[in-house]
Amino acid sequence: MNSKASCLLSFALFLLFSSATSAFNITKLLGRHPNFSSFNDYLTQTQLSQQINSRNTITVLAIDNKAIASIYGKPLDMIKKILSVHVVLDYFDVQKLTMLPRKTTILSTLFQSSGATANQEGLLNVSLVNEGEIAFGSAVKGSILTAKLVSSVAAQPYNISVLQITAPIVPPSIDQAALPPKAAKSPAAVPKKSPATPPTQALSSTPAVEAPMPSQVAADAPVVHSRQGLYR
Ligand SMILES: *[C@@H]1O[C@H](CO)[C@@H](O)[C@H](O)[C@H]1NC(C)=O
Ligand SMILES: *[C@@H]1O[C@H](CO)[C@@H](O)[C@H](O)[C@H]1NC(C)=O
Ligand SMILES: *[C@@H]1O[C@H](CO)[C@@H](O)[C@H](O)[C@H]1NC(C)=O
Ligand SMILES: *[C@@H]1O[C@H](CO)[C@@H](O)[C@H](O)[C@H]1NC(C)=O
Repeated sequence: MNSKASCLLSFALFLLFSSATSAFNITKLLGRHPNFSSFNDYLTQTQLSQQINSRNTITVLAIDNKAIASIYGKPLDMIKKILSVHVVLDYFDVQKLTMLPRKTTILSTLFQSSGATANQEGLLNVSLVNEGEIAFGSAVKGSILTAKLVSSVAAQPYNISVLQITAPIVPPSIDQAALPPKAAKSPAAVPKKSPATPPTQALSSTPAVEAPMPSQVAADAPVVHSRQGLYR
C-alpha cells in the first residue's frame, strides 16, 4: 500500500516534471515536414534542439533542404552559430510580424544570449518591405535583409512558432571567420589532386571550389561556365 502510494506519487511528479520542462519538441514538430530534414538534423547535431525545447516562448526560422545547401560542409561549430541566429527569443507568428510597429524591429536570438558575441551579430532586423513582404537579415550595420518569410510551418501559440524563410542568415563576422580568403578551403574539402589530372584541366580549375555537390550549387553554374570560358 505504502509503496504503491509512493509509486503513484513519483509517477505524478514525473509527469509534472516532464511537462514543465518541455512544452514542445522541435525535433518532432519539424519531423512532420520532410523538406526540413537537414535543418532538423543540424539542430540535433548541434544540440540546439535541446536549447530550443528548454524555452517557453520562441520562434524558429527554418530553412528547407534546398535553401540550406549554401551552408553544407561548414564546420559544425560554425553551423551552430549560424543556426542559433535563427532562434528568436520571442513568439512571432505571421500575423504578429505583419503588425510590427513602424514596420521594422530588432529581434534577439539564441546566439546573442550565448555570450559568444559582444556586438550585434546575434540580433536580427525584421522589416516589412515591398507591399507586405517580410524580410529578415542580420542587424549588423550595413547588412542586407537577405531572407524573406515564406510561410508558417508550425505553431503552438504562444510557446513556439516555426516560420520558413528563403535563405540562411549569416552575420558577416561569422562568415569571415569561417571562410579563409579564396582558395584556402578546409583540408577535407580539397583532397590532393590525383596525378592523373591532365595539366590543362588542372590549370582551368584554379578556383578549387567547384567540385563538391554540383547539383546543390546550381545557382553558381553561370559563374563556373564563364570561368571556363575565360580560361579556354
Ligand atoms: C506554453 O508554455 C507554458 C509554460 O511552460 C505552459 O504552461 C503551456 O501549457 C504551454 N502551452 C502550450 C500550448 O503548450
Ligand atoms: C523529441 O522527438 C524526437 C523525435 O520524435 C525523439 O527522438 C526525442 O526523444 C524527443 N525528445 C524529447 C525530449 O522528448
Ligand atoms: C518541398 O520542397 C519542394 C521543392 O523545393 C517544393 O516543390 C514542395 O512544395 C515543398 N513541399 C512542402 C510541403 O513545402
Ligand atoms: C532594418 O533594416 C532596414 C533596411 O536596412 C532599415 O531601414 C531599418 O531601419 C532597420 N531597422 C531597425 C530597427 O534598425
